[in-house]
Amino acid sequence: MRISFGKHSLPETGVVVFLSYSDKKYTPSLKTLDERCENVITKSMKIANFKGNEGESVFIMTPANTRQEAILVVGMGKKKVAKHSSYMAIGGKIYTALAKYNFRTVSVVLDKSEEITALRSWESSASLAYGALLESYQFDKYKTDEKSSNKQSISHFKIMCYSNGRAATQFATYENTAKGSFLASDVLNEPGNVLYPETYANLIKEELSPLGVDVKIFDENDIQKFGMGAFYAVGRGSVRPPRMVVMHLNNDTRHAPVGLVGKGITFDSGGISIKPSSGMEHMVADMGGSAAVIGTMKALALSNANVNVIAIVGLAENMPDGNSTRPGDIVTTMSGKTVEIINTDAEGRLVLADCISYIQKEYKPRLVLDMATLTGAMVTALGGEYAGIFSNNDEIAKNLTIAGEIEEEKVWQLPLHKNYDVKVDSKRADIRNSTNSRAAGATTAAQFIQRFVEKDTNWIHVDIAGVCLGDWNDTNSPGYRPFGVRLLTNFIITNYESRQ
Ligand code: BES
Ligand code: MG
Ligand code: ZN
Repeated sequence: MRISFGKHSLPETGVVVFLSYSDKKYTPSLKTLDERCENVITKSMKIANFKGNEGESVFIMTPANTRQEAILVVGMGKKKVAKHSSYMAIGGKIYTALAKYNFRTVSVVLDKSEEITALRSWESSASLAYGALLESYQFDKYKTDEKSSNKQSISHFKIMCYSNGRAATQFATYENTAKGSFLASDVLNEPGNVLYPETYANLIKEELSPLGVDVKIFDENDIQKFGMGAFYAVGRGSVRPPRMVVMHLNNDTRHAPVGLVGKGITFDSGGISIKPSSGMEHMVADMGGSAAVIGTMKALALSNANVNVIAIVGLAENMPDGNSTRPGDIVTTMSGKTVEIINTDAEGRLVLADCISYIQKEYKPRLVLDMATLTGAMVTALGGEYAGIFSNNDEIAKNLTIAGEIEEEKVWQLPLHKNYDVKVDSKRADIRNSTNSRAAGATTAAQFIQRFVEKDTNWIHVDIAGVCLGDWNDTNSPGYRPFGVRLLTNFIITNYESRQ
């Protein structure tokens, strides 16, 4: 789908879309068109009880006296409070509402914003287009029957607006973030028989190297050589050996890097502590943290952001086998600390622990942010709405929260405490990877990870199990979401981009 920004005008053909606000029902161009088609818009609004509130819409096919194929009026609620995410949401809704018909060209008319608006008109135009673009994502590469594929008809999405040049410039940045999000969606949707540590690592290199990101791939021998006994333990039962990928985007040589770490379990069967079969297929998306991390690197690189970012993803497949790690095994991590493996299904924290040690030792980052589909307890606590965050620095947690509100990838801070920390003490080793209790499961996982964070390292942990996989028992659930690319890109650019 092509997206373009044209000069404000009333298109004569195709579908024309107007926004209507509860505090300003008619924009000037909507008024003009209404008069031209014998007030069919006003009449339809009356019948539909349309007040311009959020979620309302009126759709009119082939209006008389015009050459337009259809008119769609969508409610936005109060114009005064409409923000970036409101325009993104409406862009998405417009796309979904129209994609099921046979329209080729959609034109959204955005009138000049008046003094009551929160955004400048070019900002709202760019946000609306961003929302439509994100909504247009499809994963249909394994649909061989044209009819059953999800292909949609819209080929050109036009915004007719004021300051259309500025809108296009603003949109170019959003488009880069969307491309990062699409990469994350692609890898999330790929099945475990296609995307496994080796192929995944190669894909990352192919995607990011051409964009100026330095990509290094380490194999199972390197992982052992680095002393990453916890990471290595996870992949042992799989015929597909683990990989660690280190990515560096260095556009800012004046600051220590921001460090990102992502969990990339390409399939999580649970290992010897095998999961129940119902829903196990969803564990193809257990690499959601790594997807967000590589998507963010793509977005930052495409935008040529003035940032220094090191990103590491730990890729492994967690399978049961004669070579698998056993419950009760004790392994030595790169940090030197020993871990008693109580439950082989608590594998994400094992991978993250060693990757976090590596990034601290090799790069001394100014911040370590790890992202992972880490616990079922997180799904129980916050579902698909908010990701849970844990940090040793409240200011960083606040900044991430703000970025999440802006981008509609929301996060909520949960506490760490020494009384939770002691729960991961082990009888036979230093630390155990599971408490054998459901109590505060997301928190005890975070406490486990914190054991590997050095005293003076700023650290934030993001558990995206719920927001990335959604509530799969809910039939309305939208499927796997590339949660985190928009969040991290906004957070890094806002807080860590160096402005010369
Ligand atoms: N990958 C799962 C967590 C998960 C669950 C992600 C549901 C997305 C949706 C993780 O590896 C896991 O199995 N965690 C265990 C930990 C427990 C054994 C301590 C869990 O949450 O049950
Ligand atoms: Mg697991
Ligand atoms: Zn897992």
